[in-house]
Amino acid sequence: MKTIKSSPLLAMLLGVIIVAAAISTISVEGRKHHVKKIKSKHRRHSKTTPSGSPAPAPYPSTHDGVFNILSFGAMGDGLSDDSKALVGAWKAACKVAGGKVDIPAGKQFLVKAVTLQGPCKDDTVIQIEGTLVAPEKIGSWPKSNLFQWLNFKWVSHVIIQGSGTLNGRGSNWWNLDTYQTQSRKYIPPMKPTALRFYASENVTVRDISIVNSPLCHLKFDDSDGVKVNNITISSPENSPNTDGIHLQNTRNVEIQHSNIACGDDCVSIQTGSSNVHIHHINCGPGHGISIGGLGKDKSVACVSDIIVEDISIQNTLAGVRIKTWQGGLGVVKNLTFSNIQVTDVKVPIVIDQYYCDKSTCKNQTRAVSISGVKYNNIVGSFTVQPVRIACSNNVPCMGVDLMDIRLRPSGGIRGLQTHQQQQALCWNSYGKTQGPLVPSSIGYCLRKSNIGAYYSQKVARSYDNICPS
Ligand SMILES: *[C@@H]1O[C@H](CO)[C@@H](O)[C@H](O)[C@H]1NC(C)=O
Ligand SMILES: *[C@@H]1O[C@H](CO)[C@@H](O)[C@H](O)[C@H]1NC(C)=O
Ligand SMILES: *[C@@H]1O[C@H](CO)[C@@H](O)[C@H](O)[C@H]1NC(C)=O
Ligand SMILES: *[C@@H]1O[C@H](CO)[C@@H](O)[C@H](O)[C@H]1NC(C)=O
Repeated sequence: MKTIKSSPLLAMLLGVIIVAAAISTISVEGRKHHVKKIKSKHRRHSKTTPSGSPAPAPYPSTHDGVFNILSFGAMGDGLSDDSKALVGAWKAACKVAGGKVDIPAGKQFLVKAVTLQGPCKDDTVIQIEGTLVAPEKIGSWPKSNLFQWLNFKWVSHVIIQGSGTLNGRGSNWWNLDTYQTQSRKYIPPMKPTALRFYASENVTVRDISIVNSPLCHLKFDDSDGVKVNNITISSPENSPNTDGIHLQNTRNVEIQHSNIACGDDCVSIQTGSSNVHIHHINCGPGHGISIGGLGKDKSVACVSDIIVEDISIQNTLAGVRIKTWQGGLGVVKNLTFSNIQVTDVKVPIVIDQYYCDKSTCKNQTRAVSISGVKYNNIVGSFTVQPVRIACSNNVPCMGVDLMDIRLRPSGGIRGLQTHQQQQALCWNSYGKTQGPLVPSSIGYCLRKSNIGAYYSQKVARSYDNICPS
């Protein structure tokens, strides 16, 4: 290059060539004029290109493998469909080691449901500084792809970061009934999750905000190696089923230093999840931190090695909760809940093996077994009941330890409707307690028989081989 000036021009030109090439390979309906525009731009620039210029870089990377979605045709006006630009920038970044997709600040990018697929060269970064918005109208979602909005599939070593926001604009989805009556439109059979990682390894999501998802905000399934740090999740308290973070068949997870306020579980841990460490989370409003519901429709559930600690929970349905359906099989074991501050939580400590979405479900003999659950230093205020541990009639909960639990009614004792609500409830559960315990009923809630050892061996033998070790 002869002059410094020619360098950005050259970069731009290369960008234009690639965009044109990329677009021509994608089937684009109704966007022919757009392609033409880019092609003519290309011709205009090629006249001014000095001959003997260096071989073009393969992608419009501004520098060091950074791929700004504006260079891929994104408008960033919140109205134009920027999906193809995002996918284009992703594909380019995916092909180089350390490739980075840049989503610049101060702009709003409308993106429809997309899959960003791997495998990539290692260490791909999505730098989100601006806002990505989902389609607002339900009719703008493809009927064939309602599972999620942004889907990362088969990726490893991907980092999503930045101070930007993913906005799922879920309000029409939350009020489907009203939406239907007003518009008489097609009502979809399911609602999309905002951001999903599927079959991925060693992925990180940090610093970003995810707001107003139609359903779950951030979901990991069939994945291994997940780090979530310093994110904000927010949707209204009354938005239905808007879980914060959902884990399923996912191992080796750390979720930390994040704020989650939503209409359902702040973190929901489903079957196939193990070695999960959740700490320094602020949760509420919402339904608290939940393991389950597990064992629905007689299914097998396996969850183990979970630590939830240094958490603050306020204004939620439950604090820390394990819920299983009757009739399921499998094992929930080795869970620790410690250093948890609750404020105005309906029931801070819950094990519910009678979970049911109807008013009553038939009692069944089979159950997901629960063993080795430690509660240590759980302190604060409740509004309905301090502790409710309702284990299966046939498969007792074993090794449930309650240590240093101090829970007081939010409005004082007089705020509670019945005397019973002041008391801890335990049903068919074995374990030990250690003070201080408030209310004192927690101290005589669990059964302390050495039948415990007998049962835990029996349960371990009969259930352990159902779950992979
Ligand atoms: C994921 O990270 C773990 C721990 O650092 C490592 O052992 C594993 O090989 C990584 N997986 C991939 C696909 O790189
Ligand atoms: C957390 O994320 C915000 C952006 O959302 C950023 O400004 C801040 O520096 C991050 N904090 C840490 C400790 O990384
Ligand atoms: C229980 O889970 C923790 C956290 O994953 C793990 O470090 C520990 O080894 C597990 N204990 C047993 C007995 O498996
Ligand atoms: C199921 O069992 C529980 C615990 O024994 C009992 O409280 C409940 O009434 C039973 N439900 C039905 C529908 O039989």
